[in-house]
Amino acid sequence: MTGGVEAGEGGASAEGRASSEARVAVVTGAGRGIGRAVAVMLAAQGVDVVAVDLGLDGAEETAALVRNHGRRAIALKADVALDPDVEALFAAVREEFGRLDILVNNAGITRDALLAKLTEHDWDLVVDVNLKSVFLCCRHAVALLRESGEGRIVNLSSATGQMGNVGQVNYAAAKAGVIGVTKTLGKELARWNITVNAVAPGFIETAMTEAVPEKVRTMLLESVPLRRAGSPDDVANAVCFLASDAAAYVTGQVLAVNGGMYV
Ligand SMILES: NC(=O)c1ccc[n+]([C@@H]2O[C@H](COP(=O)([O-])OP(=O)(O)OC[C@H]3O[C@@H](n4cnc5c(N)ncnc54)[C@H](O)[C@@H]3O)[C@@H](O)[C@H]2O)c1
Repeated sequence: MTGGVEAGEGGASAEGRASSEARVAVVTGAGRGIGRAVAVMLAAQGVDVVAVDLGLDGAEETAALVRNHGRRAIALKADVALDPDVEALFAAVREEFGRLDILVNNAGITRDALLAKLTEHDWDLVVDVNLKSVFLCCRHAVALLRESGEGRIVNLSSATGQMGNVGQVNYAAAKAGVIGVTKTLGKELARWNITVNAVAPGFIETAMTEAVPEKVRTMLLESVPLRRAGSPDDVANAVCFLASDAAAYVTGQVLAVNGGMYV
């Protein structure tokens, strides 16, 4: 939707209401895959969660999983590539929770094509959803994160952004851009004790990689020293570490979660 966010049912009156001390996280693209794994793992570690997605159904399912851990959760429908949606999203976070401690910029898409066949539309779409969204969410989240006194931003990059990949020039550019944003904001936001780090996954089993043809999948996995695809939980573990107190002195870094692939 444009120009606003839509809240899922049961949001503000969710079961398991947190104490005022509980940390609050916004996870974008939380309706499935890595975002859902991150939201649920954060909840297991005592964090309340705002699950944001283009699809409200998926976000609501994730919010229900968070509540199973006794944490408070709301589901919000928003397109994180659109400034009015992002503005409304963080206004809703202030309204519902009054605080924000962790922002996980996870929403992402691919539209793969070789250079000659890549349309301007698919270049813009992929760059907007994977990269511009990180800028927009950071910009609107920063006031709340400053107030928390110890903010955490974790951005999802990709091995593709580190080493390039045939047929993914739009996605590689966007994910490399995420690394530039991470390194820059790591320096810029440090004065407010906000850390900014990125996780760069390799080949992870989610809906995003389901369409990869068997031949390509086999070839990709042969380049992984650990000889398997990663799981959403493999990535969530790294995100949760960077969002935790244990990572208080880590900022501007990129943590590769790729089974040992050379990047
Ligand atoms: N799966 C992999 O192998 C892999 C590898 C490297 C990096 N990543 C990155 O990890 C992140 C999560 O990937 P995944 O595999 O879980 O993907 P996924 O496609 O399974 O889930 C992505 C979620 O983001 C949501 N989304 C898409 N566009 C959105 C928008 N404009 N606004 C709000 N929500 C939006 C989708 O609805 C979906 O629920 C992405 O940033 C992706 O680029 C994934």
